[in-house]
Amino acid sequence: MSVWVTWPSLVKLGTLGIYAGLITLALERDVLFKNNLFDVDNLPAANANITCDARSQGARTEDGTCNILANPAEGSVYRRFGRNVDPTVTHGETEADTLLSPNPREVSNVLMARGEFKPAPSLNFIAASWIQFMVHDWVDHGPNAEDNPIQIPLPAGDAFGSGALSVRRTQLDPTRTAAEAGKPQTYRNHNTHWWDGSQLYGSSKETNDKVRSFVDGKLKINADGTLPSEYLSGKPITGVNENWWVGLSMLHQLFTKEHNAIASMLKQKYPSQSDQWLYDRARLVNSALMAKIHTVEWTPAVIANPVTERAMYANWWGLLGSGPNRDKYQDEARMLQEDLASSNSFVLRILGIDGSQAGSSAIDHALAGIVGSTNPNNYGVPYTLTEEFVAVYRMHPLMRDKVDVYDIGSNVIANSIPLPNTRDGDAEDLLSSESPERLWYSFGITNPGSLTLNNYPNFLRNLSIPLVGNIDLATVDVLRDRERGVPRYNEFRREIGLNPITKFEDLTTEPVALANLKRVYGNDIEKIDTLVGMLAETVRPDGFAFGETAFQIFIMNASRRLMTDRFYTKDYRPEVYTAEGLAWVENTTMVDVLKRHNPQLDSSLLGVENAFKPWGLNIPVDYENWPAQAKQDNLWVNGALRTQYAEGQLPVIPPVDVGGLIGSVLWKKVQTRTDVAPVGHEKAMHPNGVMAKVKFIPVAGNPYTGLFQGADSGLLRLSVAGDPAKNGFQPGLAWKAFVNGKPSQNVSALVSLSGQGSNYNFFANELSQYVVPEVNDTLGTTILFSAVSLKPTLLRVDDFAKVAQNGQAVTTPKAPTQIYFVPKSELRSRFSTAAHDFRGDLLTLTAGTKLYDVYATSMEIKTSIIPSTSRTYAQQRRSSAVKVGELELTSPLIASAFGDSGVFFKHQRHEDK
Ligand code: HEM
Repeated sequence: MSVWVTWPSLVKLGTLGIYAGLITLALERDVLFKNNLFDVDNLPAANANITCDARSQGARTEDGTCNILANPAEGSVYRRFGRNVDPTVTHGETEADTLLSPNPREVSNVLMARGEFKPAPSLNFIAASWIQFMVHDWVDHGPNAEDNPIQIPLPAGDAFGSGALSVRRTQLDPTRTAAEAGKPQTYRNHNTHWWDGSQLYGSSKETNDKVRSFVDGKLKINADGTLPSEYLSGKPITGVNENWWVGLSMLHQLFTKEHNAIASMLKQKYPSQSDQWLYDRARLVNSALMAKIHTVEWTPAVIANPVTERAMYANWWGLLGSGPNRDKYQDEARMLQEDLASSNSFVLRILGIDGSQAGSSAIDHALAGIVGSTNPNNYGVPYTLTEEFVAVYRMHPLMRDKVDVYDIGSNVIANSIPLPNTRDGDAEDLLSSESPERLWYSFGITNPGSLTLNNYPNFLRNLSIPLVGNIDLATVDVLRDRERGVPRYNEFRREIGLNPITKFEDLTTEPVALANLKRVYGNDIEKIDTLVGMLAETVRPDGFAFGETAFQIFIMNASRRLMTDRFYTKDYRPEVYTAEGLAWVENTTMVDVLKRHNPQLDSSLLGVENAFKPWGLNIPVDYENWPAQAKQDNLWVNGALRTQYAEGQLPVIPPVDVGGLIGSVLWKKVQTRTDVAPVGHEKAMHPNGVMAKVKFIPVAGNPYTGLFQGADSGLLRLSVAGDPAKNGFQPGLAWKAFVNGKPSQNVSALVSLSGQGSNYNFFANELSQYVVPEVNDTLGTTILFSAVSLKPTLLRVDDFAKVAQNGQAVTTPKAPTQIYFVPKSELRSRFSTAAHDFRGDLLTLTAGTKLYDVYATSMEIKTSIIPSTSRTYAQQRRSSAVKVGELELTSPLIASAFGDSGVFFKHQRHEDK
């Protein structure tokens, strides 16, 4: 039997299976609450010195006291870390016993050191900086003790040379009493334990005073948007500025700005309120917003499983929540309720439990939500974060080795900065020189490291700490857990209700990792360090960036942070937050925050629903309803720009893939109504080209309707059918005109079926959507296209006439039968006719260039089997055509993978007029 949990497999059973999984988690969480919450502090003594004043009834205090009025020290700064494992097993390891066995530096060298960077493809780098930002709200063991450091012998051949590596010990708890002698060591949290934004606001009045402006409830911020910084270190002055790098600079600046935006809004609504009143409310709102973003955005990105997605949603809103942002799972939750109420409940049968358990508070929480519930509930154990919680959040492998900076929209690295050069004072300089929006974009499109073995960034394994010297953080991570009495991996699992592993192979079957694990731990699974075991777990629930051991700790603490806090339960109400403040929390997402303070990111964030997943081309279900320009921006910025080929890296143009022009592909071409190619669609013809944004400027008074009266938002793709050396030079264009709230209209045009032979000048000839069938059509495409159309060489433009760009339908449409794209005279002779790569020519054309005059005729398209007669008809039509407008580039032409394989231009057949 597998040692791993089984709830993920319930997902296969459909919606009710997902809910069976969710209830399993809820019930397990209840068991954990009963068995795994341990308080090791002396709160009555601490309470004696605290008076909760009138302000603290409706505001968070600086030091976290008075959240629980009846037990005011609970969760405040300098309270001890609690435990999630029985304290009797938490005696810290010492040099006299197992602290140095196996050698933690050896663990770091063999099992942690990163060879090649292993990315976590489902997340972006914002997710990494975000969790460190959160950790800095939650926990801090304070500065390490200077005396009597731990000396770790350096293994033979170590990169640090010979001798010993010295690591300072965790600062001891000065509040220990004589009565506690012989009991396991305790450590104090130098932050408040609450989810109260203390990384921004500090955990003491002294720090808090430094960050406040004392005007209109705002925090201090410089005129250029940067935070005031410390004179010597250059690091910003903020609640917590330890372990600093540019990712933290970005987040602290962003949420300081968000605080000030909230304060401005409140000042407007409540102009006569004091600075203190405004500040207190803005802090409540900003902290709750960060907690909500973490709960319903970050976490579902990191553990992206249908069960946990719903569980996290339920934590904030409850599955039965009502209101515009709260009703996502209502229908499913009703289905679950009905099932649970039925005598033959599918879910209860799967779970093997009876109805009495189904009514437990765990399930009520899932259905009704935690946030806003009537009273805080600490399950009888004072709220603290725990040593085990700290242990599972040692997620340093998330860090990349460098920050790659891109221009907004681009996928070409503009600047690559080694992570160490983004630290401390350099972080703020970098934020200013590269600009926050470029960095956000760059973080949005790059991945963090994955939480696996041998993926620990080497810069953190040789990290310079001011006044301390160089440390190996991987060694320190391993040492800390041992020092603080966090049980080793297998015992840790037993203690938190998980099956222990029985062999190394349970963790991984990857041969090198397996051999290294066995060697370092002397074939003894009980010696595996918790951090190593967690990173080694290869069996993970689908979508999970970390494994189930960390998750078990996570489900307790993530819920407790909310359910024990008065400001997320009883006092999560308008009288405390203000109505406007509550609405701010409820209606704001991370994408909104990013956009509010970086309007330049609007197009990069189009369609991005979760800011922590890699930003890319997203086509959400409501895409078609978007305004024309938003659709154009999305495909341009997130499709074309993001996949632009680097200079000198244009792909080789292959010959036309006649075999690829099989009926099914062609059917897609005429049937699929989409702007982005269906998965697996390949351009068998015209595989390579360039694309730009384009607008159609109409000739006033032209006789045609709809888009012929103007189309400001479009894409124009210019390509050749295939390798000109093999197929002759066959230029073609495809134009997509976007329409507000309706599907785009598309048309393609060619010079002729066989092209223009050895003339490589793209603008030598006119193109049209109708070309005369040719007897000597070298490719046989006419025959192929006849599989799907009676008039295979004709594309209709009737639909262009039926709708205006604002989405309005035209009552009496008038469409031409044939249109001609006539290259502007100044372009006709600009480029060489000799053999060369045409894309080089087109890439020189910039925004504002007019490419084509568009001519149109309404003459009927007649053909004859006598080619010369057909040609005469064609000439007659051409001479009757009048100019109806011009196509002008609104961006440069660029070559991109999206242009070559992603964008889709539907063909309108003769039959579909
Ligand atoms: C440039 C990035 C980072 C640097 C320089 C850094 C540095 C450090 C340092 C120096 C410590 C204290 C080591 C000690 O106990 O002596 C630490 C602890 C820790 N770090 Fe990081 N870190 C970084 C990123 C992260 C990230 C992305 C996470 C993700 C969750 C993280 C989570 C933690 C945790 C949970 C601790 C333990 C805190 C405690 O013992 O109270 N760190 N880090």
